Amino acid sequence: MRLVIPAGLPRRRTAAVGVALLLGWLSGLGSGPSGGGQDSATAATGPAARPGPASVRSTPSPPPAPAPEIDCRTAKCVALTFDDGPGPYTTKLLGMLAAHHAKATFFLIGGSIRGREAVVRRELAEGHAIGDHTWSHPQLSTLSDGAIRSQLVRTLGEIRRATGGTTGIMRPPYGATNRRVGVVTRGLGLAQILWSVDTNDWRDRNSGIVAHRAISWAHRNDIILMHDIHPTTVNAVPRILDGLSKRGFTFVTIPELFAGRPLKPGRAYLDGG
Ligand code: NI
Repeated sequence: MRLVIPAGLPRRRTAAVGVALLLGWLSGLGSGPSGGGQDSATAATGPAARPGPASVRSTPSPPPAPAPEIDCRTAKCVALTFDDGPGPYTTKLLGMLAAHHAKATFFLIGGSIRGREAVVRRELAEGHAIGDHTWSHPQLSTLSDGAIRSQLVRTLGEIRRATGGTTGIMRPPYGATNRRVGVVTRGLGLAQILWSVDTNDWRDRNSGIVAHRAISWAHRNDIILMHDIHPTTVNAVPRILDGLSKRGFTFVTIPELFAGRPLKPGRAYLDGG
């Protein structure tokens, strides 16, 4: 979706100033910031909190999110992100990512989760991260504080219902954020994850174009915006994975991209710095 740059928010890498800082705590689900999120009780992702033996890792339900072995301060990382799902093509996409051993991040629409709970659980079970993309995709900057909060909290509840856990990241629809969105997200323990590469896949429903943009526009530590509700985008993914692999990229989740630099709730990030 189109990026609405909020006043005062720098484009692209200029944001790295503030961007390079925070997220050890969010390994996707269940690892919200201690104290920050309302669901930190489920942060059973630390090694000590892990209930069972190693076999737990192969269980599909809890999202263990083992400590990332990739260090993006040294590796050439890129974060693929898919918004507006889950949808009818998400399962196909998960198969493509698995075939390539690639990890991604899904920003979920709360109102789309019912009936696709298993898809969301599979996203986590396969090592991907999930984030809150509001309940019904409004432009948050135009809403009251209460309505902003409701859009996010309702979706967090749905994520909890589907997976038993929570998340510490969100993405404002259209990239439309402002100071009030920052205050509300901070209160909810959610960091705002924007993007640095926009494939405009929602507008150009052409797999070749989408693949070409993702492959040729990506730089190290970029966050690439796509949407798994478009079959043209999903069909572009094998080419994207091949093309970016050939360029030496490693595909990481948002928490992995910021590993060791905890994301700060309320702050907006455009890339991994
Ligand atoms: Ni969206």
